[in-house]
Amino acid sequence: LRGDQVIVVSNREPYLHEHGEGDTVIVRRPASGLVTAVEPVMRACSGTWIAHGSGGADREVVDRHDRVPLPPGRSDYRLRRVWLTPKEEQGYYYGFANEGMWPLCHVAHVRPVFRESDWEAYRAVNQRFADAVVAEARSDDPVVLVQDYHFALLPAMIRRRLPRATILTFWHIPWPNPESFGICPWREEILQGLLGSTILGFHTRFHGKNFIESVDRYLEARIEHEHSVVSYRGEETFVEAYPISIAWPTPEEEAAKPSPAECRRELGERLGIPSDHRIAVGVDRFDYTKGILERLHAVERLLEKYPQWQGRFTFVQVAAPTRAVLEEYRAFRARIEAVAARINERFGAPGKEVVRLLPQHHEPDDVDRLYRAADVCLVTSLHDGMNLVCKEFVASRDDERGVLVLSRFAGAARELPEALIVNPYHVEEVADAIHRALVMPVAEQRERMANLRSSVREDNVYRWAGRMLTDAARWRLRERVSE
Ligand code: G6P
Repeated sequence: LRGDQVIVVSNREPYLHEHGEGDTVIVRRPASGLVTAVEPVMRACSGTWIAHGSGGADREVVDRHDRVPLPPGRSDYRLRRVWLTPKEEQGYYYGFANEGMWPLCHVAHVRPVFRESDWEAYRAVNQRFADAVVAEARSDDPVVLVQDYHFALLPAMIRRRLPRATILTFWHIPWPNPESFGICPWREEILQGLLGSTILGFHTRFHGKNFIESVDRYLEARIEHEHSVVSYRGEETFVEAYPISIAWPTPEEEAAKPSPAECRRELGERLGIPSDHRIAVGVDRFDYTKGILERLHAVERLLEKYPQWQGRFTFVQVAAPTRAVLEEYRAFRARIEAVAARINERFGAPGKEVVRLLPQHHEPDDVDRLYRAADVCLVTSLHDGMNLVCKEFVASRDDERGVLVLSRFAGAARELPEALIVNPYHVEEVADAIHRALVMPVAEQRERMANLRSSVREDNVYRWAGRMLTDAARWRLRERVSE
């Protein structure tokens, strides 16, 4: 495989260009697990990344082919931006992808909404990205890495136009069981679209199995369960688990970081947290799947049940703005703010709030300093394909201190058993886990953290990409031999 044959397609772009003060243009990294994982891989293998151009100044920095070299100042790969009209964005992104597929796949007790007009927009936008892939391909057999639930129809569309392409599709969110999936009025089309892939990846075997069972239920396909291969209308798709991860920091990057003690001091000064307080952090998009509400209830329960933490404990929650056009997200944010205010009234005082909500965008370095300042990191998603916040937290703790509390419903729980694994719906259990984390002896923290660190260091994102690309190379070879 050559780097220049690689094309990544995702909705979210790795960098957004926005207007800063005066005439300046600033670059921002969006909060997205997909971007966290895929960007370092693209730096390493070059090629072309196709994504929706959504930043306010995105159009001002592209060439006449809508391309811009990235990362800023380095040009390891190029981004080809696709422009969507407000109507397309509404139907395809907000509507079908985020009001339909997102709740459908997360089974997070928010009902999916399926509108005919959203589906039309979704199909049309998938077609536009297929056009972009064909335009960017340098040969008739590119390797196309299709990312996530925004593009379920894209693999089959590419397959029709570039029959010799190797299409690796990665689904970054869970796949529900066949009954839940069956709610989608276009379930057959979604499955057929995905079966245009050469390889279809999920974070866990469990989600891959749900997908295969959905195919079995709704399509006339041949399934070789033993090899995890689906044959449909003369094409084969290999369904496999590839647990995604992060790029492990290099020694130089580690050396450049401020010490955890400095990070703690700086955070304390910035937010007015007394130096004798213990700090727990949460870092999420402001999304109803992340379990932020249940987490607040657990913090409240902690302070009731273990009153020794009253006046000695602060919970800092970064909640990055996300999809706020949707009513469900706005209502969720309002609810969280109300509960946080209630807890603060009950257990805090003005200027001494127990819950600090930071509902702004944070750049990766700011988040890293927050991780390093924390005693505990709370990752209590109600359902999550993988979740990379927990892996970032582990990677940030080169001092081997700090405790991770992790939801059993995040894909990462299978890989990180040394975390304190909890059921996020069980408020009592989470409150107990936070207490246990706060009193955990340093030796136990170190032992757990050292194990967590060696597993994330080893199973990093290059291994994720490497495994997918190696499997792809094998399939290409097999197909070339049989051609
Ligand atoms: C999840 C999805 C990604 C998405 C990210 C941020 O991680 O799997 O595809 O990019 O959320 O959401 P947004 O809608 O802002 O891209």
